[in-house]
Amino acid sequence: MPQRAYVIDEMISAKTIAARVEALAREITDSFAGTDKLVVVGLLRGSFIFIADLVREIGLPVEVDFLEASSYGDEMTSSREVRILKDLRSGIEGRDVLVVEDIVDTGFTLSHVLTILRARGPKRLEVCALLDKPARREVPVRATWTGFEIPDEFVVGYGIDFAQRNRNLPHIGKVRFLE
Ligand code: IMP
Repeated sequence: MPQRAYVIDEMISAKTIAARVEALAREITDSFAGTDKLVVVGLLRGSFIFIADLVREIGLPVEVDFLEASSYGDEMTSSREVRILKDLRSGIEGRDVLVVEDIVDTGFTLSHVLTILRARGPKRLEVCALLDKPARREVPVRATWTGFEIPDEFVVGYGIDFAQRNRNLPHIGKVRFLE
């Protein structure tokens, strides 16, 4: 299918994101104070920039791991079937775990990932999502910490893609089709 022409309108500036990431990291640091090590699990690929910025502001010993679940492919609509494409390297039984997600949209991905991780018996399992689109929710799942609630718009930038493009934008923008 040929790519439709679109422009990207800035929605959240890089400066606003940085301030919010710092505030989230402070809350996470306070909440997990006393942990011997926090396992920070980034959901690939959309969270890679967010997790990189977030862990540098967290004042605790951290271990970073990644998990990849299938989601949109190159489409703009969510698929209900969620598969694990790349699993964690480390076990999480009895450990403090923070899942870092780019966007909670319908909620299928996050709820599926949480079911899998919960079954592994972590001591504590929390979620930090950069963006939340509550209007799109089909599964009742909530992140412990959310960066920004946004309206039902398709967004890109700061790690988030549209058909594998625009992840390298420093801000978050919404996609506006020209025709
Ligand atoms: P969910 O399973 O519908 O909650 O989808 C979550 C995943 O879909 C996110 O982790 C993103 O990878 C992707 N996604 C949701 N909304 C957008 C968007 O606006 N732009 C790009 N990817 C999105």
